[in-house]
Amino acid sequence: MDDAALPKPLIPPVYQGVSFTFESTEQLKKATAGAFPNHFYGRLGNPTVLGAEEAIARLERCDHALLFGSGMGAISALLFGLMTSGDRMAVDRRVYGNAALLFKTFAPRLGFHIDWFSSEEEAEACIGKDTKIVYFESPTNPRLDILDIARVCAAAKKYKALALFDGTLAGPIVQNPTELGVDIVVHSATKSLNGHHDVLCGVIAGPKDLIESLRITRTLLGANLDPSAAALLHRGLSTISLRVPRQNGTALKLAQSLEQWRQAGKLGLQQVLYPGLESHPQHELAGRQMRSFGHIVALDLKGGTDHARMVADELNHFKIAASLGGAESLVSLPSLTSHKGWSDEELASAQLSPGFLRLAIGFEDPEVLLSDLNQALEKAQL
Ligand SMILES: Cc1ncc(COP(=O)(O)O)c(C=O)c1O
Repeated sequence: MDDAALPKPLIPPVYQGVSFTFESTEQLKKATAGAFPNHFYGRLGNPTVLGAEEAIARLERCDHALLFGSGMGAISALLFGLMTSGDRMAVDRRVYGNAALLFKTFAPRLGFHIDWFSSEEEAEACIGKDTKIVYFESPTNPRLDILDIARVCAAAKKYKALALFDGTLAGPIVQNPTELGVDIVVHSATKSLNGHHDVLCGVIAGPKDLIESLRITRTLLGANLDPSAAALLHRGLSTISLRVPRQNGTALKLAQSLEQWRQAGKLGLQQVLYPGLESHPQHELAGRQMRSFGHIVALDLKGGTDHARMVADELNHFKIAASLGGAESLVSLPSLTSHKGWSDEELASAQLSPGFLRLAIGFEDPEVLLSDLNQALEKAQL
């Protein structure tokens, strides 16, 4: 029977094969000219991966997306695909530590210069005619500072620089940075896009011409996502509009209770940081550019590292782990993970105290998480 007459699968099949066969050398010629990059050879693209890419492009409200084997693979493709010797790159100091390390490592080798900034004003001051890329995040990790995305993009546009934005901490259910002027949004799709702590993957999304030109870089770096991993990611994406509001709602509830305990001088809480709290310094800006406030809540504990460690060790439902965005709630200490080895002075310059704890909220019952936090904070009182 003709395949076209058969019922179609509800869930797209996993095209695990690496090579497609051609009915003629004429068709092969078309393939090598780029006619069907997702039906040629696996390093160029793959139909299963394409399905997940199309789902992300729809969520990000932009033309096109390209998947990678990790978030760092995606960030590397931006670096190697867009920067050339003599260019300048303006980067927010608070971006993900390994992204900053990647840029710092390759700046001298590739011959480009990095201008670091820590605020919208500093971004405006350092972006100039030689700036090729402006790279930033909002909310930042782990302090959850909010940057005015449209303002930073306007500064980039003035000098025809590309605005690149890491949206990992607050994805497309929360905000659509390309609608605020961002040219390319990048994610560690390992986090909320997949949502189950079981796939390592990254993605870039933006206008078709720009993203297609970066396909060449992905092909040369060989940083592709495996089709089986793409199928898991695609399944995760199908529930994102249920998962993320649930996580963000729980995060807001926990942040409000924690803030009440802090204001009452209880449980050793020095500071509770969450963009949805009125006490957050950029609460009003967050309300303008985000539809909800994300699933990360940050705490600063009065007793420093020992206090933060005690709380983490006493928690039962929050697991001690380094990721975020998945079903299970996690707790991590920047002083032992992303900012390991930093002196108290260095931590202070990043406005991070040794007692900092990051909570990444999962799908659990909010009441269970709240009483877990309460008992851990009570037991850990110094
Ligand atoms: C904000 C942010 N960007 C990028 C990455 C890198 O992503 P991956 O671990 O998928 O390579 C991470 C990882 O934690 C991250 O938190």
